[in-house]
Amino acid sequence: MKTHEIRERFTQHFVNSGHEAVPSASLILDDPNLLFVNAGMVPFKPYFLGQQNPPFPNGLATSIQKCVRTLDIEEVGITTRHNTFFQMAGNFSFGQYFKEGAIENAWALLTNSVDEGGFGLDPDRLWVTVYLDDDEAAKIWNEKIGVPKERIQRMGMEDNYWSMGVPGPCGPCSEIYYDRGPEYGVEGGPEADDNRYMEIWNLVFMQNIRGEGNGKGDFELLGELPKKNIDTGLGIERVACILQGVDNVYETDLLAPVIAEAEKVTGATYEDPEDERINDVRFRVIADHSRTAMMLILDGVTPSNEGRGYILRRLVRRIIRSARLLGAQAEVLERFMNTIMDTMELSYPEIAQNRERILRVALNEEKSFLKTLESGTHRFDEVAAAAKTEGKTVVRGQEAFELHDTYGFPIDLTLEMAAEAGLEVDMDSFNAAMTEQRERAKADNRAKKHGHADESLYREWVDNQPTVFTGYEELASDAKVIGLVRDGEKVTSAGAGEQVEVILDHSPLYAESGGQMADRGRIFTGDTVLDVQDVQKIGKKLWVHKATVASGGLDLGSQVTAEVDQKWRHGATQAHTATHLIHAALREVLGPTAVQAGSLNRPGYLRFDFNFTEQLSDAQLEEIALIANQAVDADFAVNTIETSLEEAKAMGAMALFGENYGHDVRVVEIGGPFSIELCGGTHVSHSSQIGPISVLGESSVGSGARRIEAYSGMDAFRYYSKEAALIDAVSKDLKVPSDDLPGRIASLTEKLKQAEKEIAKLHQAQLQAKSAEFVAQAQDINGFKVLTLNLPNGVAANDLRTLATDLRNRLSNDDAIVVLASENDGKLPFIAAATKSAVARGVKSGDVVKLFGGYVDGRGGGKPDMAQGAGSNAGGIEQGFAAVRDFAETL
Ligand code: ALA
Repeated sequence: MKTHEIRERFTQHFVNSGHEAVPSASLILDDPNLLFVNAGMVPFKPYFLGQQNPPFPNGLATSIQKCVRTLDIEEVGITTRHNTFFQMAGNFSFGQYFKEGAIENAWALLTNSVDEGGFGLDPDRLWVTVYLDDDEAAKIWNEKIGVPKERIQRMGMEDNYWSMGVPGPCGPCSEIYYDRGPEYGVEGGPEADDNRYMEIWNLVFMQNIRGEGNGKGDFELLGELPKKNIDTGLGIERVACILQGVDNVYETDLLAPVIAEAEKVTGATYEDPEDERINDVRFRVIADHSRTAMMLILDGVTPSNEGRGYILRRLVRRIIRSARLLGAQAEVLERFMNTIMDTMELSYPEIAQNRERILRVALNEEKSFLKTLESGTHRFDEVAAAAKTEGKTVVRGQEAFELHDTYGFPIDLTLEMAAEAGLEVDMDSFNAAMTEQRERAKADNRAKKHGHADESLYREWVDNQPTVFTGYEELASDAKVIGLVRDGEKVTSAGAGEQVEVILDHSPLYAESGGQMADRGRIFTGDTVLDVQDVQKIGKKLWVHKATVASGGLDLGSQVTAEVDQKWRHGATQAHTATHLIHAALREVLGPTAVQAGSLNRPGYLRFDFNFTEQLSDAQLEEIALIANQAVDADFAVNTIETSLEEAKAMGAMALFGENYGHDVRVVEIGGPFSIELCGGTHVSHSSQIGPISVLGESSVGSGARRIEAYSGMDAFRYYSKEAALIDAVSKDLKVPSDDLPGRIASLTEKLKQAEKEIAKLHQAQLQAKSAEFVAQAQDINGFKVLTLNLPNGVAANDLRTLATDLRNRLSNDDAIVVLASENDGKLPFIAAATKSAVARGVKSGDVVKLFGGYVDGRGGGKPDMAQGAGSNAGGIEQGFAAVRDFAETL
């Protein structure tokens, strides 16, 4: 049975029993605790936590969620069941059926015959596990379903208590395993062998909420969820592995074609008995990672050096590295990406519109990694040569770490190249450096999580008294203070000068979201005034105003007025609508592959990030600015429409990443089809109210993404007028009309270049003229003529070389050593030269340079007759010269 059919059967089974089929959320759903969606329940978190009501008619949903887990990346291809990307099929009950319903539903789908719509698995091959004291689940399995007691095993927190690994909903779980037979391992059920007994479905009885903690088993339970829920996850790829009768998850219909392609590209053979199948893992890595990389790019991730982008980068590098180890010489990604897009397109039709973009991002990254490989190899050669010169057989861990950290060299590559060069790598110190880096990253992560973890403090309000946002209609509202929080604690009053979080039942202040910064404003009553500096939304429902009490005092329960700073709102609104115009203009100029990656707007300023791999030309940028300003001039009406997600998509609204499944969405439409976006922000009512939009330019933000910045309204005007004043001043200084400025500046620059050349020539001539004088300063030491000169005024390295050659020629009848140095502004080039007869007596200029370099904190090298270096400590020059003279003495 093909994977696509397995998906369809799953969905159909649950739709038949009243579940609403919900599409997969993006892999990069916005959750500060997660890099990627890693389980089917992630998009439903607000419903489990009770922050939002589930919008599904029967309180039941089913989905097949794209998931990425990269924690076990090193296991890929080694075990038979680890995919970095996989599809988790789940059914969800929000306060509806519980253990019994979940178990019955799962069992039916697994064991119903294929004709009945099931998977037709043999019930005698299924085993189950339950949480230690979960007698209820064990009883259902045994008595209702008929699973014999000996095939029901009990396991502890680590295995049978599920959470997202971070604070959030959790609960005991029950897992279903399939026995693949004795050729896969020993008897004894999942307890004994989790390779033979493959986990295929996890049923989570979601009823608790967990706090901070380590790993899977060690955390505190903070309390109960408002309702008892069901969250399940069936591994589509594992079921495919079983139903297709293949050995592992890399050989299913979705990934096997990539392995076949890799055989063609590399010339190696999968499952080659001759090489004892050492290549198998590499093939599987290629297949697994190609799919994950493709799906990440599809969802808008671009390669970079941190976070999500770094994971993508790492995947791509591991593909290329594996292909090279298999014998690939040239670029490989295009073929792997095309193959995986072909196999995945049936289930993910949106791949079709994104093929070109996906390829472009992948191929660019491949190109840049091949360059990295080149420069890293170069650096490695230097390190290896140095180790050999020093008579060492070990590459220092710090150097291997630098190769990894700076050049992106995977350690196995360094190890292999070291082995080829007859060297070892000090792995202990390498690992120490890696651990140190990881610790730093962890500390950083912990700090990030902390800000988010304490949402439980606000739960009661989120559940019972969410804030009503009035800011689309009015700028001042009467409100009641329903909560005060100071330093993470609930309080009942706040006095003058204090910083406090104020929670109101109504608020016209816009809370930061969708790139628009929060409104500034005031909360006041009688003599009490609070300045609001920030507003954040919690659980999408609660407005938390971060404010300072400027005068008076505020008590819980007070009636107040909350008022938006009008000027601020006006500016933010102009900037936000301008962002939509820039976005629309951008897509008109660059085509639909320029996908939004992020935005920010605050009064007078906007920035817009989008995925695009090439730098924009000046002409493109000008056209974007022109189209946006024409849209301002057209005085388009700006309409907001509340509608369903389906309706919005049908209207052509651009769906944004990280969108959750709300049924009602808000669409902002400007000028009919010109711009239609899902957006909760505030906007002007006619485009002309934006005023001018001045595009400042574009730049790169990490590979694969670019940023446009612009001013709007009065800030755009101020920007233009400042530019105009600047040009005016320059044109007065240069005494030409502004139109003639470019010509005048070009000719001045040319003149300046000529003059600089002339000066350099004169300097050189001056030095040359002094050559005879310099030669006379050579000292007779031990039969050598030793000439050491500290030249003033910063002679450049090239000129030093010319002079040294000249001086050496003049002394060619002697056994002469010439050493020149010249310091200027922290730079200190130096050079040593030796005549033929001096070389014959054993002088090596390279040694002289090294010796001298030791006194001026410098290094260098070269040939016996001439060597150059650079240092930084001018204070050591005279001592260095003395050392050279001593050296001549000893020869
Ligand atoms: N959320 C559960 C899991 O990921 C089903 O295993």
